[in-house]
Amino acid sequence: MRMTVIGTGYVGVVHAACMADIGHDVLGVDIDEERIAALTEGKAPIYEPGLNELLVRTVASGRLRFSTYVTEAARFARLHFVCVGTPQMPGGEAADVRYVDAVIDGMAPHLRPGSLIVGKSTVPVGTTARLGARLRAVAAHSEIAWNPEFLREGFAVADTRRPERIVVGVESRRAEATLREIYKPMLISGVPFFSTDPATAELVKVASNAFLATKISFINAMAEVCDSAGADVVALAEAVGEDSRIGHRFLQPGLGFGGSCFPKDIRAFAARAEELGAGEAISFLHQVDEINTRQRRRTVDLARNLVGGSFSGRRVAVLGAAFKPESDDVRDSPALDVASAISREGAEVRVHDPEAVDNARPRFPELHYTLDVPKACEDADLVLHLTAWPEYRKISPAELGPLVRDRKILDARNTLDTAPWQSAGWSVNALGRPPMTGSYAA
Ligand code: UDX
Repeated sequence: MRMTVIGTGYVGVVHAACMADIGHDVLGVDIDEERIAALTEGKAPIYEPGLNELLVRTVASGRLRFSTYVTEAARFARLHFVCVGTPQMPGGEAADVRYVDAVIDGMAPHLRPGSLIVGKSTVPVGTTARLGARLRAVAAHSEIAWNPEFLREGFAVADTRRPERIVVGVESRRAEATLREIYKPMLISGVPFFSTDPATAELVKVASNAFLATKISFINAMAEVCDSAGADVVALAEAVGEDSRIGHRFLQPGLGFGGSCFPKDIRAFAARAEELGAGEAISFLHQVDEINTRQRRRTVDLARNLVGGSFSGRRVAVLGAAFKPESDDVRDSPALDVASAISREGAEVRVHDPEAVDNARPRFPELHYTLDVPKACEDADLVLHLTAWPEYRKISPAELGPLVRDRKILDARNTLDTAPWQSAGWSVNALGRPPMTGSYAA
């Protein structure tokens, strides 16, 4: 099927490449000329496992092309996916939907009769209905549907090829049939398909993110209780998660969530519910957000205590800059938030990350960056483990020990195996856990 994908950010570029890969004829569109030029050469604008190979293959096959013209897109196909960003409103909590609106307004007068626009961006509930009315005023023969995207960064290609579910919010059987046709290979392989009204489809996305964010903040709230009670939140989470009704996933205590989705999506959801008169029902999301930001402050407080009460003149090593492992994305990264707060308090902060350094540097130029873990840790008074890259689990604490000034590590992600660190003479600290001191005599 011929289709366009408007917006070649995270969701758009992966969707466009995967659709071309399953045999569709795809035109990717973006206003960013540099990005389109790179994509035309098969170069991915983001670090995402498998994406470069996929782009090279689909561009070479001729099934994936790119353009900067929205009007060309309107002529190219009768099916259009909208994947532009919906960031947090500057100075507010609500979602800024101006880019989605602009795509619809820009395309509407040029659409071919019988066109279907399918939104994938995360939007406030009611957006499809609002845009549908706007579209019909200009292009009576066209319609709009919503098909939220659930991909995780770092697994974007795999999640798009084999999603856990496909949800579509449609106003006609024709729209549903078109979407079933597009996703046929996924449906044949058994991916569940949910066809519902647009408002419900929009809500499925924000409700899913709200639930996951709540689960993370729940266990982080337990970490605070553990700190007061002298208990261990890691052992607690292990035992609690064993209950199959609860489960272990997203029950990892630590520095909390960041990235381009969870923080802004829960704020936008709460703001939209308020507008609809349902604010009270999900007012707990403010708490979820507050618990999450408090984890960052509490990490800085614990780090300050560990270096003797003041960062002034101290050297701190930071392991991790991305908002999560397997990603080079630093948008609302808890790691960089903590690193810059510590630097503002007078410490010299050296940050290591295997992928995200280039993205972090322009945003936080006051921090020092390196691609070498030992360099980051040289003469450090404290090592902070802030993003759970698997390679940090392979660090040899015995080899790192002689390089630092003080063998102290704060494992803010609770993913390090603490025993080897302790036996190499390190004291290991974490939120929600009693300090684990070393047994090695220097
Ligand atoms: C998320 C949703 O998972 C995805 O469905 C949606 O489409 C977009 O938002 P993503 O932002 O890629 O995807 O990240 P995810 O893997 O969900 O992690 C979000 C954040 O939560 C990360 O900062 C991660 O470090 C943190 N996290 C996750 C925890 O702090 N503890 C956990 O147990 C799990």
